[in-house]
Amino acid sequence: MNNSGIIRASEFLCPGVCMGAHYGTDGRVAVGRQFAAIHWNYMETSLSDSSELNTLRDLIRWGASRFYAEELCFGHGTDNAFDEARTLVCHALHLPFVFPEGYLAARVTAEEQQAIVELLETRIRTRKPAAYLTHEAWFAGLPFYVDERVLVPRSPMAEWIEKGFAPWLDAEEVDRVLDLCTGSACIAIACAAHFDNAEVDAVELSPEALEVARTNVQRHDLEDWVHLYQSDLFDALPQEQYQLIISNPPYVSAGELQALPDEYGHEPEMGLLADQEGLAIVVRILAQAADYLTDDGILVVEVGNSEALLVECFPDVPFHWLEFERGGQGVFLLEAAQLKAHRSVFEAVLKT
Ligand SMILES: C[S@@+](CC[C@H](N)C(=O)[O-])C[C@H]1O[C@@H](n2cnc3c(N)ncnc32)[C@H](O)[C@@H]1O
Repeated sequence: MNNSGIIRASEFLCPGVCMGAHYGTDGRVAVGRQFAAIHWNYMETSLSDSSELNTLRDLIRWGASRFYAEELCFGHGTDNAFDEARTLVCHALHLPFVFPEGYLAARVTAEEQQAIVELLETRIRTRKPAAYLTHEAWFAGLPFYVDERVLVPRSPMAEWIEKGFAPWLDAEEVDRVLDLCTGSACIAIACAAHFDNAEVDAVELSPEALEVARTNVQRHDLEDWVHLYQSDLFDALPQEQYQLIISNPPYVSAGELQALPDEYGHEPEMGLLADQEGLAIVVRILAQAADYLTDDGILVVEVGNSEALLVECFPDVPFHWLEFERGGQGVFLLEAAQLKAHRSVFEAVLKT
């Protein structure tokens, strides 16, 4: 699943083995259910233990060890414990994530060390993804303000936005883009940044998420290029024609949602959950998108693990599943003519 994109600390060390697993027999880390029993004891002593942590390298390594031991879940901007720890260490020190590696050996002050350890422990105690602690996430090479009103940006579609969806689109020729379910507006803003001549309409139902989107549009100085609409998908949108409609809608079923690790509980449920086994919003987009596309326009939608169910529901629809060099799956592309040809099938499913 991409919206979840779950990567557990345990999987990073030992693929296929999850919560409470009895790995670590090679002595690399002491983990497993037994660890939970001594967890509180460990928490009490962890601050004093940290007195031996002097350098950035020490603190990142220590944080990563703690994250593995506590079996944190990743997938909200980083995919492993080292990057998650480095994100938090750098944030506490007001440093960028990337800096000359020689500075890893730099010593921190006692005050800095305390701030870092507290932040790392907060990540463990609350299970909040690092992005909600730092209020920053990166997407398509751009920084975004985030908090718990929006999903943490992580769609693999960033890679294709950067490529301008060639050969389906000529980036220079694109002047109208629609981002449905915009959340933080990360996709809309990335499109405005990568399609030089495009105005972008961005639609979001949640007023709280729209406030975050507005913050990001202002932060990137794109008020003249990115237009925000509060709307239930197309409902409150002017009848425009777009060359690209792009969406990362909610597509997680109720059953899947319940099984997600605690990190996902900090994200707005409305950003993840969709009825009809996760397909309710996706099918509405499929049924309506053709009315808003130019003749040579394309629809691109992330559906993550719902790919299999979508193909099962619509066996005759020629979904093109995009491939990713940087990892990811579950994103389809359809051309306007294909959507029109199968519109009746989508509408029939909507009526059931
Ligand atoms: C998976 S999140 C994606 C957010 C952002 N585009 C991203 O990629 O990080 C889906 C977003 O769709 C919004 N949403 C849910 N139902 C909607 C609807 N019917 N119309 C418009 N937006 C909706 C949610 O509030 C949430 O912000």
